[in-house]
Amino acid sequence: MLKGLSLIQPNDLTVSEIDEICTLAEQIIVDPSSFQDVCRGKILATLFFEPSTRTRLSFEAAMLHLGGTVEGFSDASNSSTSKGETLADTIRVVSSYVDVIAMRSPKEGAALLASKFSECPIINAGDGGHYHPTQTLTDLVTIRALKGGFEGHTIGFCGDLKFGRTVHSLTEAMCRYKNVKFVFISPEELKIPDWVSNFLDEANIPYSTASRLEDVIGDLDILYMTRVQKERFFNEQDYLRLKDSYILDKAKMELARKDMIVLHPLPRVNEISPEVDSDPRAAYFKQVKYGMYARMALIAKILGVL
Ligand code: CP
Repeated sequence: MLKGLSLIQPNDLTVSEIDEICTLAEQIIVDPSSFQDVCRGKILATLFFEPSTRTRLSFEAAMLHLGGTVEGFSDASNSSTSKGETLADTIRVVSSYVDVIAMRSPKEGAALLASKFSECPIINAGDGGHYHPTQTLTDLVTIRALKGGFEGHTIGFCGDLKFGRTVHSLTEAMCRYKNVKFVFISPEELKIPDWVSNFLDEANIPYSTASRLEDVIGDLDILYMTRVQKERFFNEQDYLRLKDSYILDKAKMELARKDMIVLHPLPRVNEISPEVDSDPRAAYFKQVKYGMYARMALIAKILGVL
């Protein structure tokens, strides 16, 4: 039952609820005008305590395309947080004005905390290096559209797997499907955190690690590139040393399967050379568009209008 649900981490959704959201997103893609009024009279608040382009704007576009309205802030310095107001009080207040809140915070666990004080559903739009469940819905809608389903894929995550919340979230979601294999490609310093590898071990999910993308790219159905997350480093020197660990270019794409797809949550910095953008396997800009439809479906389901 999705109506009234707060979405804090991917597994707050069952496999059948994910199917429901993907199916609705696909219906919206085919006939968007049929959905243009379903959220008339409803309000979404976007509370972004950390920068964003895609997530905030796609949430806002999603609500507007459903006929609803949007309020919020994109910079906490313009809110009463800057005067010392707690997250709990901000959420108590905003949730008395609106029907659903999408929030992003640099603090892990912030969305869960917010959900304890909210009168309306909270959607986690990213909490520090922890989870980003609506990016996961974006990724799942993209994978279903381009690869026909979720089972049997070998998915390689490459780059900053330590701080990359999109990696943690998609791993958690994908490990519920049959015959999925994971390959984690990173420098030692940016390897997948223990809390992620522990749940893979406990669930007996196969995975391997690699330090060179060239060695494994030929085995992959999906390559998920990530940015080294500068904002989460404590030490600039470490960031500078690691930031260009992986650069996907035409030469590496030559080693990949003809039907592999390349995903990236974006923003990218150097990790995918622009020369790859014209490769038909580069799916990261299609992924952005699927994200808006995924969020339209999620908002409609959480508000119980469809
Ligand atoms: N993918 C993603 O979360 O992008 P933004 O940081 O621009 O929202």
